[in-house]
Amino acid sequence: MTASDLRHVDDVPRAAAELFEEVMRASVEARGRFVVTLSGGSTPLPCYRQLASRRGLPWRHTWVTWGDERFVPHDHPDSNAGAARKALLDSVPVPEAQVLAWPYLETPEASAELHAARLREALGGEPVFDLSLLGLGADGHTASLFPGTGSALRDELTLSVRPSVTAQARLSLSAPALSRSRVVAFLVEGEGKRTALEATLAGEGDLDRYPARAISALERLWVLTDLPDLSAA
Ligand code: 6PG
Repeated sequence: MTASDLRHVDDVPRAAAELFEEVMRASVEARGRFVVTLSGGSTPLPCYRQLASRRGLPWRHTWVTWGDERFVPHDHPDSNAGAARKALLDSVPVPEAQVLAWPYLETPEASAELHAARLREALGGEPVFDLSLLGLGADGHTASLFPGTGSALRDELTLSVRPSVTAQARLSLSAPALSRSRVVAFLVEGEGKRTALEATLAGEGDLDRYPARAISALERLWVLTDLPDLSAA
Protein backbone atom coordinates (compact mmCIF):
# COMPACT_ATOMS: atom_id res chain seq x y z
CA MET A 1 0.00 0.00 0.00
CA THR A 2 1.59 3.29 -1.12
CA ALA A 3 0.42 6.84 -1.71
CA SER A 4 0.04 5.96 -5.41
CA ASP A 5 -2.74 3.55 -4.47
CA LEU A 6 -4.81 6.31 -2.90
CA ARG A 7 -8.02 7.30 -4.64
CA HIS A 8 -9.73 10.21 -2.93
CA VAL A 9 -13.52 9.99 -3.31
CA ASP A 10 -16.36 11.93 -1.71
CA ASP A 11 -18.53 8.83 -1.34
CA VAL A 12 -16.58 5.72 -0.39
CA PRO A 13 -19.50 3.25 -0.49
CA ARG A 14 -20.57 4.49 -3.92
CA ALA A 15 -17.03 4.36 -5.32
CA ALA A 16 -16.64 0.86 -3.91
CA ALA A 17 -19.91 -0.25 -5.51
CA GLU A 18 -18.77 1.16 -8.86
CA LEU A 19 -15.44 -0.66 -8.61
CA PHE A 20 -17.19 -3.86 -7.50
CA GLU A 21 -19.49 -3.78 -10.55
CA GLU A 22 -16.60 -2.98 -12.91
CA VAL A 23 -14.45 -5.88 -11.67
CA MET A 24 -17.47 -8.19 -11.49
CA ARG A 25 -18.44 -7.63 -15.14
CA ALA A 26 -14.83 -7.85 -16.37
CA SER A 27 -14.23 -11.10 -14.43
CA VAL A 28 -17.35 -12.81 -15.77
CA GLU A 29 -16.52 -11.62 -19.28
CA ALA A 30 -12.97 -12.93 -19.04
CA ARG A 31 -13.39 -16.11 -17.01
CA GLY A 32 -17.07 -16.84 -16.71
CA ARG A 33 -17.22 -16.14 -13.00
CA PHE A 34 -16.49 -13.52 -10.34
CA VAL A 35 -14.93 -14.52 -7.03
CA VAL A 36 -15.05 -11.90 -4.31
CA THR A 37 -14.03 -11.76 -0.65
CA LEU A 38 -16.22 -9.36 1.26
CA SER A 39 -15.01 -7.25 4.13
CA GLY A 40 -16.61 -7.20 7.53
CA GLY A 41 -17.16 -4.14 9.67
CA SER A 42 -19.52 -1.24 9.08
CA THR A 43 -17.85 0.73 6.28
CA PRO A 44 -18.81 -1.60 3.43
CA LEU A 45 -22.47 -2.06 4.43
CA PRO A 46 -23.80 0.96 2.46
CA CYS A 47 -21.83 -0.32 -0.53
CA TYR A 48 -23.48 -3.73 -0.18
CA ARG A 49 -26.92 -2.10 0.04
CA GLN A 50 -26.22 -0.09 -3.13
CA LEU A 51 -25.16 -3.26 -4.95
CA ALA A 52 -28.37 -4.95 -3.87
CA SER A 53 -30.36 -2.29 -5.73
CA ARG A 54 -28.35 -2.42 -8.97
CA ARG A 55 -29.94 -4.26 -11.87
CA GLY A 56 -28.49 -6.72 -14.35
CA LEU A 57 -25.42 -7.77 -12.39
CA PRO A 58 -24.20 -11.35 -13.05
CA TRP A 59 -24.87 -12.64 -9.54
CA ARG A 60 -25.50 -16.20 -10.77
CA HIS A 61 -21.86 -16.33 -11.88
CA THR A 62 -20.59 -14.98 -8.59
CA TRP A 63 -18.81 -16.76 -5.72
CA VAL A 64 -18.71 -15.01 -2.36
CA THR A 65 -16.56 -15.53 0.67
CA TRP A 66 -15.28 -13.27 3.45
CA GLY A 67 -11.78 -12.09 4.20
CA ASP A 68 -12.45 -12.68 7.86
CA GLU A 69 -15.14 -13.51 10.36
CA ARG A 70 -15.82 -13.30 14.02
CA PHE A 71 -16.02 -16.71 15.70
CA VAL A 72 -19.78 -16.47 16.31
CA PRO A 73 -22.87 -18.18 14.84
CA HIS A 74 -24.06 -16.62 11.57
CA ASP A 75 -27.21 -15.32 13.28
CA HIS A 76 -25.12 -13.49 15.88
CA PRO A 77 -25.29 -9.68 15.55
CA ASP A 78 -21.48 -9.55 15.21
CA SER A 79 -21.33 -11.98 12.27
CA ASN A 80 -19.84 -10.51 9.09
CA ALA A 81 -21.69 -13.11 7.03
CA GLY A 82 -24.96 -12.25 8.75
CA ALA A 83 -24.48 -8.54 8.09
CA ALA A 84 -23.64 -9.06 4.40
CA ARG A 85 -26.56 -11.44 3.90
CA LYS A 86 -28.94 -8.84 5.32
CA ALA A 87 -27.40 -5.93 3.34
CA LEU A 88 -26.87 -7.75 0.04
CA LEU A 89 -27.01 -11.52 -0.36
CA ASP A 90 -30.62 -11.95 0.71
CA SER A 91 -31.56 -9.59 -2.16
CA VAL A 92 -29.52 -11.01 -5.05
CA PRO A 93 -29.53 -14.43 -6.76
CA VAL A 94 -26.10 -15.79 -5.81
CA PRO A 95 -26.60 -19.58 -5.69
CA GLU A 96 -26.27 -20.68 -2.06
CA ALA A 97 -23.66 -23.27 -3.05
CA GLN A 98 -21.51 -20.35 -4.21
CA VAL A 99 -21.62 -18.56 -0.85
CA LEU A 100 -18.65 -19.81 1.17
CA ALA A 101 -19.16 -18.45 4.67
CA TRP A 102 -16.71 -19.36 7.40
CA PRO A 103 -18.16 -22.35 9.26
CA TYR A 104 -18.87 -22.05 12.97
CA LEU A 105 -17.62 -25.30 14.52
CA GLU A 106 -16.48 -26.39 17.99
CA THR A 107 -13.25 -24.40 17.83
CA PRO A 108 -11.85 -21.54 15.72
CA GLU A 109 -9.10 -23.90 14.59
CA ALA A 110 -11.62 -26.43 13.27
CA SER A 111 -13.56 -23.67 11.55
CA ALA A 112 -10.44 -22.33 9.83
CA GLU A 113 -9.40 -25.82 8.73
CA LEU A 114 -12.78 -26.64 7.20
CA HIS A 115 -13.01 -23.25 5.50
CA ALA A 116 -9.62 -23.80 3.87
CA ALA A 117 -10.77 -27.18 2.57
CA ARG A 118 -13.97 -25.70 1.18
CA LEU A 119 -12.11 -22.84 -0.52
CA ARG A 120 -9.68 -25.27 -2.11
CA GLU A 121 -12.49 -27.54 -3.26
CA ALA A 122 -14.33 -24.65 -4.86
CA LEU A 123 -11.45 -22.51 -6.12
CA GLY A 124 -8.42 -24.77 -6.40
CA GLY A 125 -5.37 -25.44 -4.28
CA GLU A 126 -4.25 -21.82 -4.16
CA PRO A 127 -7.48 -19.83 -4.42
CA VAL A 128 -7.28 -16.67 -6.55
CA PHE A 129 -9.90 -14.00 -5.99
CA ASP A 130 -10.99 -11.42 -8.52
CA LEU A 131 -11.69 -8.80 -5.88
CA SER A 132 -11.01 -8.51 -2.17
CA LEU A 133 -12.64 -5.74 -0.20
CA LEU A 134 -10.82 -4.81 2.99
CA GLY A 135 -11.25 -2.31 5.79
CA LEU A 136 -8.72 -0.67 8.07
CA GLY A 137 -9.13 -0.51 11.81
CA ALA A 138 -8.13 2.57 13.79
CA ASP A 139 -5.32 0.44 15.24
CA GLY A 140 -4.13 -0.51 11.75
CA HIS A 141 -5.60 -3.99 11.55
CA THR A 142 -7.14 -5.31 8.36
CA ALA A 143 -9.37 -8.35 8.03
CA SER A 144 -8.54 -10.02 11.36
CA LEU A 145 -4.82 -9.46 11.06
CA PHE A 146 -4.17 -7.42 14.21
CA PRO A 147 -0.99 -5.58 15.17
CA GLY A 148 1.31 -7.37 17.58
CA THR A 149 -0.23 -10.80 17.06
CA GLY A 150 2.15 -12.06 14.39
CA SER A 151 -0.88 -12.92 12.22
CA ALA A 152 0.22 -10.60 9.38
CA LEU A 153 3.41 -12.70 9.08
CA ARG A 154 1.67 -16.07 8.73
CA ASP A 155 1.16 -17.66 5.33
CA GLU A 156 -1.42 -20.41 5.83
CA LEU A 157 -4.54 -20.01 3.71
CA THR A 158 -6.78 -19.52 6.77
CA LEU A 159 -5.94 -18.46 10.31
CA SER A 160 -7.69 -18.64 13.65
CA VAL A 161 -6.54 -15.90 16.02
CA ARG A 162 -7.42 -14.70 19.50
CA PRO A 163 -6.49 -10.98 19.57
CA SER A 164 -6.56 -9.51 23.08
CA VAL A 165 -8.50 -6.51 21.75
CA THR A 166 -11.49 -8.36 20.31
CA ALA A 167 -14.52 -9.71 22.11
CA GLN A 168 -14.40 -12.99 20.21
CA ALA A 169 -11.78 -15.19 18.59
CA ARG A 170 -11.35 -14.29 14.92
CA LEU A 171 -10.99 -16.17 11.64
CA SER A 172 -9.05 -14.63 8.77
CA LEU A 173 -7.50 -15.27 5.41
CA SER A 174 -3.77 -14.69 5.67
CA ALA A 175 -2.05 -11.74 4.01
CA PRO A 176 -0.63 -13.92 1.21
CA ALA A 177 -4.08 -15.45 0.65
CA LEU A 178 -5.75 -12.04 0.49
CA SER A 179 -2.97 -10.84 -1.82
CA ARG A 180 -3.87 -13.56 -4.32
CA SER A 181 -6.58 -11.17 -5.48
CA ARG A 182 -6.45 -9.60 -8.89
CA VAL A 183 -7.85 -6.41 -7.39
CA VAL A 184 -7.74 -5.35 -3.74
CA ALA A 185 -9.76 -2.38 -2.52
CA PHE A 186 -9.33 -0.92 0.95
CA LEU A 187 -12.36 1.10 2.05
CA VAL A 188 -11.14 3.72 4.52
CA GLU A 189 -13.69 6.28 5.62
CA GLY A 190 -13.71 8.98 8.28
CA GLU A 191 -11.25 10.98 10.34
CA GLY A 192 -11.04 8.13 12.85
CA LYS A 193 -8.92 6.22 10.33
CA ARG A 194 -6.52 9.06 9.40
CA THR A 195 -3.78 8.15 11.87
CA ALA A 196 -3.87 4.46 10.97
CA LEU A 197 -3.87 5.17 7.23
CA GLU A 198 -1.06 7.73 7.38
CA ALA A 199 1.04 5.43 9.57
CA THR A 200 0.43 2.50 7.21
CA LEU A 201 1.35 4.62 4.18
CA ALA A 202 4.41 6.13 5.87
CA GLY A 203 6.70 3.22 5.18
CA GLU A 204 7.22 -0.42 4.33
CA GLY A 205 8.11 -3.38 6.51
CA ASP A 206 7.26 -3.74 10.20
CA LEU A 207 4.28 -5.78 9.00
CA ASP A 208 3.36 -7.01 12.46
CA ARG A 209 2.83 -3.40 13.56
CA TYR A 210 1.13 -2.38 10.30
CA PRO A 211 -0.66 -5.49 8.97
CA ALA A 212 -2.23 -3.70 5.97
CA ARG A 213 1.30 -3.25 4.59
CA ALA A 214 1.41 -7.04 4.16
CA ILE A 215 -1.38 -6.90 1.56
CA SER A 216 -0.62 -6.59 -2.15
CA ALA A 217 -2.59 -7.45 -5.29
CA LEU A 218 -1.95 -9.48 -8.42
CA GLU A 219 -3.04 -6.61 -10.67
CA ARG A 220 -4.17 -3.47 -8.81
CA LEU A 221 -4.55 -2.30 -5.21
CA TRP A 222 -6.78 0.68 -4.45
CA VAL A 223 -7.28 2.65 -1.26
CA LEU A 224 -10.68 4.32 -1.57
CA THR A 225 -10.81 7.09 1.01
CA ASP A 226 -12.69 10.31 1.73
CA LEU A 227 -9.77 11.63 3.81
CA PRO A 228 -8.23 14.79 2.30
CA ASP A 229 -4.65 16.01 2.66
CA LEU A 230 -3.10 12.78 3.84
CA SER A 231 0.47 13.41 4.94
CA ALA A 232 2.91 12.18 2.32
CA ALA A 233 5.08 9.20 3.12
C1 6PG B 1 -14.15 -6.98 10.82
C2 6PG B 1 -13.41 -6.47 9.62
C3 6PG B 1 -12.37 -5.49 10.06
C4 6PG B 1 -12.90 -4.15 9.63
C5 6PG B 1 -12.15 -3.03 10.29
C6 6PG B 1 -12.81 -1.68 9.96
O1 6PG B 1 -14.42 -8.19 10.91
O2 6PG B 1 -14.49 -6.12 11.65
O3 6PG B 1 -12.98 -7.36 8.79
O4 6PG B 1 -11.09 -5.70 9.55
O5 6PG B 1 -12.76 -4.03 8.21
O6 6PG B 1 -12.21 -3.26 11.69
O7 6PG B 1 -14.12 -1.73 10.47
P1 6PG B 1 -15.16 -0.54 10.20
O8 6PG B 1 -15.42 -0.53 8.72
O9 6PG B 1 -16.38 -0.92 11.00
O10 6PG B 1 -14.50 0.72 10.67
